[in-house]
Amino acid sequence: MAQLKLRYYPDPVLKQKAKKITIVDGSVRKLAQDMLDTMYKSDGVGLAAPQIGVSKRLMVIDVSSEDEPAKPIVFINPEIIEQDGEMVGQEGCLSFPDVFFEVKRYSRVVVRFQNLKGQTLKLTAENNLLCRAIQHEIDHLDGQLFIEKAVSQLKCDLEMTKAGLIDGDADALSRELSQQSSQVAAATEGETIKLKSDKKEHILK
Ligand code: NI
Repeated sequence: MAQLKLRYYPDPVLKQKAKKITIVDGSVRKLAQDMLDTMYKSDGVGLAAPQIGVSKRLMVIDVSSEDEPAKPIVFINPEIIEQDGEMVGQEGCLSFPDVFFEVKRYSRVVVRFQNLKGQTLKLTAENNLLCRAIQHEIDHLDGQLFIEKAVSQLKCDLEMTKAGLIDGDADALSRELSQQSSQVAAATEGETIKLKSDKKEHILK
């Protein structure tokens, strides 16, 4: 059992597009096992190879709960071949400790991938954590991070600031966020509200 070192934001490897795996051999199998060990140790539901510093198209997911037997899935060269609908839900990421906010995703995806035997498989996930995790981890393989997909940029900035990942004034962001929610709550149906903080300026300084 080997635990690998996690890479945290803003490590540049997280922004790279990962390379396709051409041969599924013993080294890929060992890497997948080490990634699963690392994911379980860190209480994650998914982990992509760039998050341990390896820029290859490999990711692991296990969405089983603690009282269930483990159900690891290893995805090699995963590709979404169908996607539709939408769902909004809370996400976190092992490369962003203590940062959680809502992200919008497709509510149904069909993913094609290879398994550790090199066989090509297809998997459909709909309206569940697996569906969300597949999209989050494939984004990692493309160098895309969930902070680019936050439903509320302000909430994302607040979480990032509180976690010490960006510079900012957490109290001011917090005030702005509560002002924004009361504005939204006070708006009548059909009314278009202009949210003054809905710009990207205070992100990622
Ligand atoms: Ni992640």
